[in-house]
Amino acid sequence: MQKKRGTFSGGLGFVLAAAGSAVGLGNIWRFPYLAAMYGGGIFLLIYLILVFTFGYTLMIAENAIGRKSGKSSLTAFASLNKKWGFVGIIATIIPAIILPYYNVIGGWVIRFFAAYLTSSADVVAGEAFFSDMLASPLTLILTQTVFTGMIVVVLLNGVEKGIERVSVVLMPILVILAIIISVFSISLDGAIEGVKYFFIPNFKDFKFTSILAAMGQMFYSLSLAMGIMVAYGSYLPKNSSLEKNVGKIELFDTLIAVIAGIMIIPAVFAFSGGNADSLNKGPGLMFVTLPHVFASMPVSRLVGALFFFLVLAAALTSAMSIMETIVACVCDSTKLSRTKAVLIVGILSWLVSFLPALGYNVLSGVKFFGRFDILDMMDFVTNSVLMPICAFLICLFVVFGIGVKAIEDEVTVSGKFRRKKLFNVMIKFIAPVFIVAILVFSILEGFGVITV
Ligand code: ALA
Repeated sequence: MQKKRGTFSGGLGFVLAAAGSAVGLGNIWRFPYLAAMYGGGIFLLIYLILVFTFGYTLMIAENAIGRKSGKSSLTAFASLNKKWGFVGIIATIIPAIILPYYNVIGGWVIRFFAAYLTSSADVVAGEAFFSDMLASPLTLILTQTVFTGMIVVVLLNGVEKGIERVSVVLMPILVILAIIISVFSISLDGAIEGVKYFFIPNFKDFKFTSILAAMGQMFYSLSLAMGIMVAYGSYLPKNSSLEKNVGKIELFDTLIAVIAGIMIIPAVFAFSGGNADSLNKGPGLMFVTLPHVFASMPVSRLVGALFFFLVLAAALTSAMSIMETIVACVCDSTKLSRTKAVLIVGILSWLVSFLPALGYNVLSGVKFFGRFDILDMMDFVTNSVLMPICAFLICLFVVFGIGVKAIEDEVTVSGKFRRKKLFNVMIKFIAPVFIVAILVFSILEGFGVITV
């Protein structure tokens, strides 16, 4: 007997769940530090152009593949064209590598949130707070266990009753909190310079590498090339407009990234007396610089706690989608029940998470290419290598495996396809060429041959 697949209740449930997947650590942790590193306004401009051309194209393609096949990434490609099954395997390996390290970073967020609830903002801003946390295997394992446990509980409740319900509650809270903190941030003395830096493109700051960074960020942030949108597309009812829903997800994800930039960049500017150089803190911007900024504010603990609660909500809804993608693949290709699949995937990802967690302490001697610790390496392999490969193969699959018309037909099942021409040109010509360029540059950068 065919097992019944979960579905979302309709367009709104799908949009909130897919937006919940898209809005994650990528928007709040990654986007602001990349914008800060790559020239503020110019990075934002490039990012926006990419989201509404490349991002749009891939998101339509992935959702249409999912809905057309009614399958998750592992089997969707093979079911539409047997010869292309290997694309599904790559698309499924990616979330399986991302999930364990996402659990670990989710655990960091829990640690910061708990610290604002239980101690002063000065303690969290202390020089060694972040590094002490990384040095403690027990803290990392405990927090990642709590984070993984939370996702498993949601997933055990199913697609509509678990993922959709949690997203419907957490997403609006996230938006409200983000707006409150942004207003607070731009009202600080000296913050306006940060707002200008973030919004006004300065073409002097343009670097070719900004395009690469923006492109990688776009994949990550929109949950593209990691099997997720294929799985979520398979849960989208046939009568709900695919193109409109995709438009809403992109808009929502981009708005949250922009709001995250407004939350963080002006506040850091105000704190540092308008010095743009103070922004170049890389990945530590959220975990190291921001707690200092919070500590200098009135009601610092409350702001810190609200902020990290917001990040936790974003991280949870994204991690749910990453785990769901793997669960859906297990359910589609075995006879296991959904409950068993969730438990098996949850336990396995929890166990594998020990590696990136211990990479900061017990296994800190393990370095790849002389510089990547285990978590960085997992991030590099997925974001810089496998995701561009997967995105490239998806373009080829659409053009040569099933034909662009098959996607057009799937989109028009549920409404008009307004940007059909753009989709055609992007998927056939522009996207594949650019994606290969990114892949080459990302790999060269990873091996330290060039500096991005
Ligand atoms: N799209 C998810 C994020 O931004 C993976 O974190």
